[in-house]
Amino acid sequence: MSEKRKQVSRRQFLNYTLTGVGGFMGAAMLAPMVRFAIDPALQTSAQGDFKAVAQVDEITTEPQRIDWTIDQVDAWYESEVTKSAWVYKTEDGDILALSPVCKHLGCVVTWQGSEEYQDQFFCPCHDGRYYKDGVNVPNTPPAAALDVFQHKVEDGTLYLGKAVPREEL
Ligand code: FES
Repeated sequence: MSEKRKQVSRRQFLNYTLTGVGGFMGAAMLAPMVRFAIDPALQTSAQGDFKAVAQVDEITTEPQRIDWTIDQVDAWYESEVTKSAWVYKTEDGDILALSPVCKHLGCVVTWQGSEEYQDQFFCPCHDGRYYKDGVNVPNTPPAAALDVFQHKVEDGTLYLGKAVPREEL
């Protein structure tokens, strides 16, 4: 009876050992780097969160500018960002919170910003105008209505979320 033994040469043994140890060490070094590279991109951002901005009984039928801050996380960069909205109560008693960002080229609109058009939002950059409900005035530069903030009311407090085009509300 003959027994076949598979011999491993010293060279092969060294090759297997060094490949195994080298692979293990490489994986151990790469894992934290890969995690650092992709982890922030996988985390959810707080941008969609609602933030308390005002008491509902302080809101009138006249648009008033409300500013608040949010913590914004852009992948690896965290910052505090100031947001603004033009907020008022409609005739139905609903609350409308309009983005002040002009839909033409992104300047900031103001309520009654023009002496000539007292019941409109006015953009000083290119004389863009919007009606009180945020709809763009025809034949002025903006081609779309102002975005509208998602909102909710809880215990008399107004919370604002993300500004979205009104057709997405
Ligand atoms: S940016 Fe507002 S009209 Fe041009």
